[in-house]
Amino acid sequence: MAKKSFDEAKRNKSDEFYTQLPDIEKELSHYKEFFRGKVVFCNCDDPYESNFFKYFAMNFNFLGLKKLIATCYNSSPVAGEQISLFPDKQPHKIEITEVVDENGDGAIDLSDVEYLLKNRKNTFSKLKDGDFRSDECIELLKESDIVVTNPPFSLFREFIEQLVRYDKKFIIIGNVNAITYKETFKLIQDGKLWLGQSIHSGDREFRVPDTYPLKASGFRVDEKGIKYISVKGVRWFTNVDYKERHEDLISYKKYSEDEFPAYCNFNAINIDKTSDIPFDYDGLMGVPITFLDKYNPEQFEIVALGIVGSIDFSSERKMEILKNGQPTGKYTVNAKGTLYKKYDPNKDKKPPAFKDAETGELYSSIYARIIIKRR
Ligand SMILES: C[S@@+](CC[C@H](N)C(=O)[O-])C[C@H]1O[C@@H](n2cnc3c(N)ncnc32)[C@H](O)[C@@H]1O
Repeated sequence: MAKKSFDEAKRNKSDEFYTQLPDIEKELSHYKEFFRGKVVFCNCDDPYESNFFKYFAMNFNFLGLKKLIATCYNSSPVAGEQISLFPDKQPHKIEITEVVDENGDGAIDLSDVEYLLKNRKNTFSKLKDGDFRSDECIELLKESDIVVTNPPFSLFREFIEQLVRYDKKFIIIGNVNAITYKETFKLIQDGKLWLGQSIHSGDREFRVPDTYPLKASGFRVDEKGIKYISVKGVRWFTNVDYKERHEDLISYKKYSEDEFPAYCNFNAINIDKTSDIPFDYDGLMGVPITFLDKYNPEQFEIVALGIVGSIDFSSERKMEILKNGQPTGKYTVNAKGTLYKKYDPNKDKKPPAFKDAETGELYSSIYARIIIKRR
């Protein structure tokens, strides 16, 4: 496959996911007051296709926005019904400062780009490249108060890093795994980033380009031939406050050594389900990353991510790596840098992952835990 088409396929596959309007409406309804008088920047958004642009154009007056800017890197490969001003896929920007519902009968869709551009206060122009990291987009970022979009997931780290560097507010959608990125986790730990209000479980549908492979799982084509894919582990990431994140998690379980075993290589107990966090345990606890869906910063302190590099493991035991519980003849030290606990044949659903080279003791490896402590 030629390099260009390979890159294109890769980009289409991982980055071309178009957020649905109901998902945007649901999340943004929690921040209504915040938007008054603000400049909103959607910096990965083709105004002809993006539901983020559509949401803000339609709600421009309702939210009391000062300005709405959208920039597009490359006209989206989604087959839209609208004809772009730049059919040659030229990167572009649109700046909206006034939205007038002339006859107020609601017959005109206020997100219609051509309609919005009849107003001389609104402008549409070409960009050199439209990359969110380009000088021209950074200038727009500087004049903005908040960025709201679904950025390319392959550039998620860079995207967040840029927002933090320019001290911007943001509400962006991405994958829950981004929590475990070193940079993202540090922001979460420092109280500079948290999960949004509306998505805490289940799948979300995204529109995908016509070229999207048919064999993908969770794939659907609607009656108009538009393709959608269902994606797991979607979350909103934000630094704009909302009231629900200050509500306490109600715990009802009592601590017992038997139910919450300690790790062998770190002084904390293991908890498999956030709802099981014991109400009477004050030490360190390892909880699944989805704990962040319930995280109230006044109730718990986030101490570390339970992987090597974030915490210091207290053991240096040599152990054999097991595959499906069977010996492999390969050895590691300290469970490849993850937390581990003694294997319990009566409770553990998976076979043991490691066997102590000296004692023969079996261990279960515990992946992706956040270490927390009650305040
Ligand atoms: C996940 S899609 C979401 C599109 C739109 N924001 C939405 O939610 O419907 C990410 C978009 O970012 C664009 N993109 C990729 N790299 C980019 C870059 N360096 N700068 C700006 N946009 C980029 C992709 O082409 C893609 O359209």
